Order: sequence, then C-alpha cells, then structure tokens
Amino acid sequence: MVRAVVDRYDADPSYMLQILREIQEQSGWLAPPIIEALVVALKVPRIKIEAVTGFYSFLYTQPCGRYRVLFSDNITDQMLGSVRLLDRMLFNLGVKRGETSADGLVSIDTASCTGMCDQGPAMLVNNRAITRLSEARIDEICDLIRRRTPLDAWPAAYFQVEDNIRRSGILLNDRYKRGEAIVGALALGRDGMLEQVKLSNLRGRGGAGFRTGLKWELCRNAPGDAHYVVCNADEGEPGTFKDRVLLNSHADQVFEGMTLCAYVIGAKRGFLYLRGEYRYLLEPLNAILEQRRREGLLGKNIMGAPDLDFDIEIHLGAGAYICGEESALIESLEGKRGTPRNRPPFPVTNGYLGRPTVVDNVETLINGCMIARRGGNWFAGIGTSQSTGTKLLSISGDCPRPGIYEYPFGVTVADMLADCGATNVQAVQISGAAGVCIAPDEFERAIAFEDIPTAGSVMIFDQSRDMFQVARNFTHFFAHESCGFCTPCRVGTTLLANMMDKLDNGKGSPYDFEEIKQMDRHLLTLAHCGLGHSACNPVLDTIEKFRPAYERRMLHKTFVPSFDLDGALTAARQLTKRDDSDAHLDQEYE
Ligand SMILES: Cc1cc2nc3c(=O)[nH]c(=O)nc-3n(C[C@H](O)[C@H](O)[C@H](O)COP(=O)(O)O)c2cc1C
Ligand code: SF4
Repeated sequence: MVRAVVDRYDADPSYMLQILREIQEQSGWLAPPIIEALVVALKVPRIKIEAVTGFYSFLYTQPCGRYRVLFSDNITDQMLGSVRLLDRMLFNLGVKRGETSADGLVSIDTASCTGMCDQGPAMLVNNRAITRLSEARIDEICDLIRRRTPLDAWPAAYFQVEDNIRRSGILLNDRYKRGEAIVGALALGRDGMLEQVKLSNLRGRGGAGFRTGLKWELCRNAPGDAHYVVCNADEGEPGTFKDRVLLNSHADQVFEGMTLCAYVIGAKRGFLYLRGEYRYLLEPLNAILEQRRREGLLGKNIMGAPDLDFDIEIHLGAGAYICGEESALIESLEGKRGTPRNRPPFPVTNGYLGRPTVVDNVETLINGCMIARRGGNWFAGIGTSQSTGTKLLSISGDCPRPGIYEYPFGVTVADMLADCGATNVQAVQISGAAGVCIAPDEFERAIAFEDIPTAGSVMIFDQSRDMFQVARNFTHFFAHESCGFCTPCRVGTTLLANMMDKLDNGKGSPYDFEEIKQMDRHLLTLAHCGLGHSACNPVLDTIEKFRPAYERRMLHKTFVPSFDLDGALTAARQLTKRDDSDAHLDQEYE
C-alpha cells in the first residue's frame, strides 16, 4: 500500500505531506511499520518523516478511533452550544476528551475553527465536515458510530454545506463564461495584462493588502528557470469561510485567475493549497481541473497560445493554521513542517523550491479574472481610492442571517450589521483572532485598508456575551496553533492562555494585567512571524474596550499564584514523613 502511494508521486519527498495523508486515509493512522516502509521507499531519514508527522494535527502516529471526531472549537461554535454537545457525545459514548475508546471505535477531541461558522456547531468525522449539530443529531451520530455504520451510509443531510450567500456584488453576480478571462488576457498580451492589474490597484484579499500588480511584476522580473503560482486556500483564520464558498461555487474563476497570473509571470506549474478541513472539496475541484484540461484551458498551448503552458495541482493541508502564512505554506508544499521562513527574501524571488513564486489568496485571483475581462479602470472605479473593488465578508455570531456578504470597500460596520439583522450588539471582532475588536462607538468605521483591513472574518457578539471569554478562546487558539519554531511565541502564547485561565479561575490581580502587557511587548518584538506578533491583540483590545469584563475577575489586590505551591509539596512531605513548619512554604507576594 505504501509503495503504491509513493509510486504515484514518483517517490518525490516534496510530496511527503500528500503521501502521508493518503496513506493515513487508507490505514487510519501512521503506524511504525508504515514509517519504516516510507524511509525505504522515499529514501528519506526517519527523523525527517517524523518531523512532518509530528507537526500536523491531522496526522496520527498513535492509534486513534475508527471514527475520529473533532468538534470545531471556535468561539462562534461555542456560542451555538458546541461545548454542551461535546460533553453529551463524550458521555453517550463513554469516552474522555482527547482519548480513544477502549475498543478503538471512536476518539473525540476539539479542533480549531473548521470554517463552518455560518452553519455551526460543526465537527469533522474522519475529516468530513458535519454541520448544524444539535442534541438530536449528536444522539443519532452516536448510534451510527455504535452500529459501526460506514460514513458513506450516514444521512447526506449531515454533510450538507450551504453557501449562505446573503449579499452579492460584482464578483458573486458575475456571469462568467469559462475561458473568457484567458481570451481577454491573451488579447491584452503579457505586459498589457500586468498593466491592467496595476491600473486596477487590486490589493491582496488574504489580509496584508499587498498590491497584486506589483507582486506579479516583482515575480515576473525575478531571475530563475522556473516560476510558480500558488493559490492560498488555507483559510484558517477563525470566523472566515468565504474561500470555502468561492471554491465551492466559483472554482473555475479561481483556476482561471491562477492561469492569468501564470501567463504574466511565465509560470508552468501552479498549486492550490487547500486546508485539510475542506477535504470534501478535493474531488469536485479535481473534476473541474480535469474538465479544464479537456477543454484546452490547462495544459500545453492553452487556447492555442504558443507561449502559455500551465497546469495546476491541489495540495491538501493537514490541520495547521500557520500554513496560511505564505512562507510556511511553501514549506508545507515542499513536504516539510509548516515553519515560516525568514523574510526577506520574499517568495516573489525565493519561493517554492527557492524559485520565484506568487502566493495569492483565492479571492484575489478571482478579482484578476474580472480585471482581464472588464479592465483595470472599471475595477478601480469601485470601492475607495486605497481599496478598490469589493470585499467578501464571512459574517457569523449573534445575527439572524449569518453568511457571505459582498460589499464595495468602504462599507461601514453599522451598515453591515443592519444587513445581517444584528441587534443589541456589544462588539464585533473583525479579521479573526488576530484582528481588531470594535465597540459600538466605532461602528461608523469602514471596511477598507485605510481604516479596518480584513481578510473577511466578521464575528458579532451581542450584550449577553462575556468579552473576556471571547478573548480567552482566542488565546487558546494561538497557543494551539503556534508552530513552536521560536521560543517567544511557543512559550509566550501558552503563558498568555494560562494567564487568561488564571483570571477565569478567580486568581487575577493588577499584576496579571502588567504581565499581559509585558507578554505583548515580548511577542511583538521577538516573535518570528505574524502569528506571534498578533497573539496578544484580542486580549489588549478587550482590556481597553471591555474593561469591566476583566475587572470582575480582579479579585485580588496583589499577586496570587495560579497554583498551590504548598499543596504541590504534599507528596514530598508524605515521602519524608515531615509536617513541621519548615516543610511548608508560606506564599507571600508583594
Ligand atoms: C499566521 C498567518 C496566517 C495566514 N493565513 C492566510 C490564509 O489562510 N489565507 C490567505 O490567503 N492568507 C493568509 N495569510 C496571509 C499570507 O501570508 C499572504 O499574505 C497571502 O496569501 C498573500 O495573498 P494576497 O496578496 O492575495 O492577499 C496569513 C498570514 C499569517 C501571518
Ligand atoms: S511566531 Fe509562532 S507561529 Fe510564528 S514562527 Fe514563531 S512559533 Fe511559529
């Protein structure tokens, strides 16, 4: 079995992650004999394989249940009752969280946001998403598991993922004919196409807002025998799910956008990096790629152009949020741990296999497609001067109409809240855990790079929500998702989550506020990448804007340790048979 999978990938170690994932799909987990067989088949030292298996949370090197259940642990899932449902399932099946049942039937745990916030609570069972969980659905799932019913025989309704498009604009309403954008680009020529993208002032939709035309130009001008296009479909930011919808209903435009980029920069190969949580999209996306090949829209001499040869393959991630960071994504594409690289050099000159590479978000590439057909000036006329075009927002949380909303840049938060029917709003978290948390006096602010930039996540919290718990959820997200490469982030994010737990346990004092601020300074100045830099954002924002939620937890005037030091010495006292005053520790702190 190992040999068959390895052969399909020509024993190329840069496919390590894909190989491990495919083997695991067949074998359930990556047992030691499998790793040994891989060492031989791939001619790679065991340590390199184990480095990869140890990194991705969806790769298992210990036996796990025949049914692997992961509850989405995003704050929006929790608000919809996921914690109660998780407890119910653990109780029904007699399993402890994070463990496998004694008969090896089921293991149950949590995962970071699964990208289904508009139809949560959600879970993954053997990497297949199940949405709209309820007590009744959990009980039915428990029965199916007890009866060992194969996943394919479970009711199809469980796996239904709706697009939930609530407001459409130029992008979602686009009546697009397959190949039309390539025709437009070929008519413009390479330079002309690049010129239009620059004219449009299109900026990346993955969060950072880098100018797409400039990125394509830098990559095109970078020396190298091969150039690459990568579509970033990792979409791991809590509360974001717009790329899921684009890949489900507009995949042709995504692939066409990649082809246009390839045309401009002279790439022959492209990759779509799809997050593991969207595994269910893999076959439909591959079918679209096949159709494009059949129609001459991928492969050699695309649409008869002598100088346009390009093809795309899909790589699946395996549950690591950091792989959305472009350099970590490239490492992962090369079959390694998703550790962010030192930058500079940037991917445009030193990307995949060290070659010039454009990494663009799904939505950015679709915008490229529209620009090829309708021109840069048309695009630049929509939105604001610094933020042209439209933005897709993934709205979830406390509102009656969660889903996808497309707006021209410049829309205010207030307008957005009115459209989705949100009332009694206390706070809106924009751009995910790493983004900004805004209070009602800021609702006239605009979604735009010059005001509130966002990759698209909008989570709404009404007055009934405890903003401290929202921030605590995000600190646990960062502690879980820190890739562990640099100490300030590896240790700092865990300490931060522990500090929030300490406050939650009633042991907070002003000292802890100072500690949190100190941690922010450490992370901001010493962490290696954006994850570490922004890990304190949700806490600092909520301390500033929702201080009473923290003050309620400041039960002490001076420092109180988060653990019982004297209690921790109990075992030592018992062993030494001592109980005199010197065998006790007084805990006195200024
Ligand atoms: C921790 C972290 C996670 C990220 N996750 C994503 C992601 O899931 N999708 C994405 O497009 N960009 C993500 N980015 C931004 C990418 O690094 C990169 O800027 C983006 O893919 C560039 O594409 P664009 O210019 O089209 O926005 C992330 C960045 C960081 C620091
Ligand atoms: S800051 Fe965090 S996520 Fe980034 S490299 Fe360091 S440990 Fe990894």
